[in-house]
Amino acid sequence: MTLTDAPSEPVADGARRTRVAVVGGGANVEHDVSLASAAAAAAALAPTHDVVPLTIGRDGAWSADGLALPVDEAVAVIASCDVLLPAVHGPHGEDGTLAALADVIGIACVGSGVGAGAIAMDKAVTKLVAAAEGVAVAGGRVVRATGAALDGVALPAVVKPVASGSSHGVRLVATREELDEAVATALTIDARVLVEEVVVGREVDVAVLRRADGTTVTSPPLEILHAGAVFDTTTKYDGSARFVVPADLSDDEAQAIADAALAVTDALGCDGVARVDFFLTADGPVLNEVNTMPGMTAHSQVPRMFAAAGTSYADLLADLVAGALARHHAAAP
Ligand SMILES: Nc1ncnc2c1ncn2[C@@H]1O[C@H](COP(=O)(O)OP(=O)(O)O)[C@@H](O)[C@H]1O
Ligand SMILES: [Mg+2]
Repeated sequence: MTLTDAPSEPVADGARRTRVAVVGGGANVEHDVSLASAAAAAAALAPTHDVVPLTIGRDGAWSADGLALPVDEAVAVIASCDVLLPAVHGPHGEDGTLAALADVIGIACVGSGVGAGAIAMDKAVTKLVAAAEGVAVAGGRVVRATGAALDGVALPAVVKPVASGSSHGVRLVATREELDEAVATALTIDARVLVEEVVVGREVDVAVLRRADGTTVTSPPLEILHAGAVFDTTTKYDGSARFVVPADLSDDEAQAIADAALAVTDALGCDGVARVDFFLTADGPVLNEVNTMPGMTAHSQVPRMFAAAGTSYADLLADLVAGALARHHAAAP
């Protein structure tokens, strides 16, 4: 059977396994992280699903099993599947791009749809949505240039690209010179850059899962313990940060974080699983960002959060795939 052979049996009769296109990589700075998420997800699904792995290169070119695949052939492969699992973090993937591809092809897609993916990828707009829901966010502004655009910025500040991930381009700055430098660097990643006030608080994240049975659950919260001023790219992947799950929170703190996460993901319209990241300050939770395709290796935050709640990594992925199929069938005309 070639990659593009259509499945011979319908899904509903259970006569064959669900065929899942797992896409990893991606044309952004999180390429390697996405490869790891996709490989782990593919391995976990393989015993129970027909997995079709595909990769998007840093240059946007598609491949399968290391062989280049013209984009029309990649689309044909995806169209031969029941479900697309877009394990691509960051722009050109998590931002709704791949959900849109699945939508146009007419197959189910794991995770958030086009709108929620696009808005959550935009940290500035996400903050507007959160604030409208009564969820606290860091003050700040969006800039598109260095120099005069930065006059009046209160220091210290945190500089970050509006749409990126894995802390690329994120920097705590204390002087005007550092501010200009950091904004110039962030502008190489995104045309819009957030300059935010520094929030002092514990970093606590929670996942919101819309399960295949239609219910929505929040995971146990997870606290990140790291030594740096910011949870930077190196610390994220060198093993020096520690995850505490469940985080050691009072019932009120845990409830406030879960309520805020639900309010924001409901307002955004997230589906599948989203990780909602907060600073827990003396005045309560402050939203940092929403990840609609969070890190998905077995050791990533979201799988560890659900493991703490008794849901295995393989079961979490199977539920995400089943949820995508259920939503797709429910939406069918
Ligand atoms: N306003 C802020 N105040 C204090 N620390 C921040 C602020 N914004 C980001 N950080 C730190 O930088 C890290 C990365 O920023 P984040 O916005 O989460 O980017 P990414 O999407 O790359 O993860 C956060 O985990 C946190 O440690
Ligand atoms: Mg983050």
